[in-house]
Amino acid sequence: MATCPIGTDVSRAAAVLRAGGLVAFATETVYGLGANALDPLAVARVFDVKGRPRFDPLIVHVASADALGPLVAEFPRRARELAARFWPGPLTLVLPKTDRVPDLVTAGLPTVAVRIPDHPLALELLRAAEVPVAAPSANRFGRISPTRAEHVAEQLGDRIDYILDGGPCRVGVESTVLAVPTRRVARPDQRERPTRTDETAVADSERPTLLRPGGVTVEEIEAVIGPIAAPSWEFSAEGEAAASPGMLSRHYAPRTPLAIRGAATASPNESPGARIGLLAFRPPVSTAGFAAVEVLSPTGDLREAAAEFFAAVRRLDALGLDRIVAESFPPEGLGRALNDRLRRAAK
Ligand code: TXA
Ligand code: MG
Repeated sequence: MATCPIGTDVSRAAAVLRAGGLVAFATETVYGLGANALDPLAVARVFDVKGRPRFDPLIVHVASADALGPLVAEFPRRARELAARFWPGPLTLVLPKTDRVPDLVTAGLPTVAVRIPDHPLALELLRAAEVPVAAPSANRFGRISPTRAEHVAEQLGDRIDYILDGGPCRVGVESTVLAVPTRRVARPDQRERPTRTDETAVADSERPTLLRPGGVTVEEIEAVIGPIAAPSWEFSAEGEAAASPGMLSRHYAPRTPLAIRGAATASPNESPGARIGLLAFRPPVSTAGFAAVEVLSPTGDLREAAAEFFAAVRRLDALGLDRIVAESFPPEGLGRALNDRLRRAAK
């Protein structure tokens, strides 16, 4: 199958975006599948190419906070503090949108998700394109996110126009998505509440809500703005409306069935004869009986593990194993994002 060109030609990639085409590009988290966010036809192609349901809104990427002026109706204090601390970087803020943002981008929601990615080529592309870029992860819907240009080429290479190759993604898990309450839009799970009289007081007392754990940790966010709320739901059934429509229970999935174990109990013994792969956070005590083993971090470093996570799942998935057993991660820092991805990948 013919695959699109892969390279580092930023002006070519920018021209493709301006002409309504699709460019996959490296960010520090995962590769994104980008389209001009202000061009509904181009955005529609993103949904089609990914096989993504239209109820799942996209993140809009810009090169500077100034570029958000026409897109975001309100930028509350806590959002500004977080942007000042973490942008460019793996934090996505959900804020009230203006009419400039097409409904297709936000799946009809009154909010838009925005971020400035921390990757030199992505920033060059966004500056050269001179348009905001709507970009989901550049994988087929529900499958493993891409952290290398060749991952994108494998899944989408025959359906898009260019792949901007920025090498392996440094962070390796997607951005943290945080809804920051404002006067205009209450927290997603509180939208049905009756309007109160002192709207400013309400806005200040409501906590931002974590919609997806990711590259910026909860600990880092809380150090800047104080306590945030975890969503009232953990998993939503496939297709069910959720606070963040993309948080479906099954996602990031390899073809091989994946089961999660505590580190100490990861053992292949339960099914004699089966070819089982082990996805281990740190070097396991024993690898006996496993047909393949991926160790994410020899030193037990969550950052290193995150950077390698999706690529390692892909490598195991390519071996035609009967099952993958994955160790859960310590439930802190990036471990939360990794456990979240594991739970959604499991079946
Ligand atoms: O790191 C990332 O965030 C990558 C890179 C390419 O930037 N992008 C990414 O996009 O992961 P995607 O489409 O795979 O995930 C976007 C997430 C989904 O869970 C979606 O539901 C949520 O952001 N989201 C987008 N707009 C939203 C909104 N207005 N309200 C609530 N959640 C929103
Ligand atoms: Mg995704």
